[in-house]
Amino acid sequence: MGSPKKPSRRSQEWFGREGKQGFYYRSWLKSLGLPHEMFDGRPVIGICNTWSELTPCNASFRELAEHVKRGVYEAGGFPLEFPVMSLGETQVRPTAMLWRNLASMDVEESIRANPLDGVVLLMGCDKTTPSLLMGAASVDLPTIGLSGGASLSGNWRGCPVGSGTGVIQMSEMVRAGELSQRDFVEAEASMQRSKGSCMTMGTASTMASMVEALGMSLPENAAIPAVDARRFRLAHLTGRRIVEMVKEDLRMSRILTRDAFENAIKTNATIGGSTNAVIHLLALAGRIGVPLSLDDWDRLGSRLPCLVNLKPSGEYLMEDFYYAGGLPAVLREISEHLALDALTANGRTLGENIADAPCWNRDVIRPLAEPFKPEAGIAVLHGNLAPNGAVIKPSAASPQLLQHRGRAVVFENIEELKARIDDEALDIDETCVMVLKNCGPRGYPGMAEVGNMPLPPKLLKRGITDIIRISDARMSGTAYGTVVLHVSPEAAAGGTLALVRNGDFIELDVPNRRLHLDVPEEELAQRRAEWKAPASPARGWTKLYVDHVQQAHLGADLDILVGGSGDEVGRDSH
Ligand code: FES
Repeated sequence: MGSPKKPSRRSQEWFGREGKQGFYYRSWLKSLGLPHEMFDGRPVIGICNTWSELTPCNASFRELAEHVKRGVYEAGGFPLEFPVMSLGETQVRPTAMLWRNLASMDVEESIRANPLDGVVLLMGCDKTTPSLLMGAASVDLPTIGLSGGASLSGNWRGCPVGSGTGVIQMSEMVRAGELSQRDFVEAEASMQRSKGSCMTMGTASTMASMVEALGMSLPENAAIPAVDARRFRLAHLTGRRIVEMVKEDLRMSRILTRDAFENAIKTNATIGGSTNAVIHLLALAGRIGVPLSLDDWDRLGSRLPCLVNLKPSGEYLMEDFYYAGGLPAVLREISEHLALDALTANGRTLGENIADAPCWNRDVIRPLAEPFKPEAGIAVLHGNLAPNGAVIKPSAASPQLLQHRGRAVVFENIEELKARIDDEALDIDETCVMVLKNCGPRGYPGMAEVGNMPLPPKLLKRGITDIIRISDARMSGTAYGTVVLHVSPEAAAGGTLALVRNGDFIELDVPNRRLHLDVPEEELAQRRAEWKAPASPARGWTKLYVDHVQQAHLGADLDILVGGSGDEVGRDSH
């Protein structure tokens, strides 16, 4: 007698069982009102939902999940929706990034532990996209992404207001005395006018674009507005498609290849995408086993132009982007730079998906020959101030500051910055370089989005709107300025950043990719000997995080989460 035949589907390790075990696995689910045929071996599809009232950007996801279910049923599958940790970028403190890796563990273990054959990931607000992709990648089942879409364009008194970007602009106007506090509060309700994620090319829209460029979703995923009926149609089609993907055994690892990541990096440049994508894609590559380095971002993307005229660096908003043709139109425009034979979730190649993609508005999506901004990707800097690298988005920076030597004005932490920045006596002018320490993965902890430090009012009142800012923090995708981020190693890990003092001179040379602290090596060695590492947190998740988080140039994943555990079925629970 040979060994018993392995069930054709993973879910049959639960539902295809006889005796007591099969009774357990099926009986409690039948309490949902399910007929016995649902357990007959059809693909069981998990719908991984990040709906939460504390994540208002994902508030449409209950409805979205219902449309996914329609598609799954229609294709002969069995959908089961489940919640995972949802991180509302604007609500959680100290920063949503502190829990991206924890949420990814929730996703990974929820998928691994349950009778699932395939997964649909419902993603929207900034960290909900990388956490779901990372967790699912460590399991590597057939998986498809579905983004929630951006909210309707913000509008206040007839003027467009972009998510995040509008807040930053208006708060600087208040600090400069150009806008009243009363008008500022009134503007709050004019920005996020519907359910959906930020409608600038911030991190959420960037990551939705990365999902599509990686091939992890159906075409058009990035830009359809959250409340547009076509978003719900896409959900329906996504539900249909995942059932086919299970039958084809089309796993994430067949889609997330080196070519796919290279396509995504190039796409990020041409959409003027967020610097946060650097960290998230490095972490995702680590989960799926694709070698990817920080320098790949510079090598592959930094010389490409930005074609998309969207806030924060441009004029328009995500709704305009969709009506202009969305991401397929951009991908078609840059097709000569892409690996067109990369496989995507619909079973077709990227090249096949974008071959006929139309563009309806050349002011929103510019042609490659007449770009919105030349050389717009992310530049990676090295030097004694960032031995493992730092990033800057030149398209969001002031051209005259890209080569500059200035005096450092140092803030040891975010509290010191907040306490001193409005002080008229602060010794700073537009030639200075603001330096913020202890905001990296370990230092904050969680690597907060505070790298685009507010400018001193004394400079704002003189019409100065940008000076060089350097930190180990991240920056919101909706922010802008000459901002050097992700300095690695961070200050709290004993990086050179920890040693910078007021009055030191710093050289930023973006064309030559250099970030240099102009202090003699002997002096730095002396300061290093005097430096004391911060104490580790006492307990709980923060301790686990600080003890295991990797530096920014590696994607800030936990060292114990790199790689995957696969979809192996565990022992019976009873
Ligand atoms: Fe949720 Fe921007 S705050 S998408």
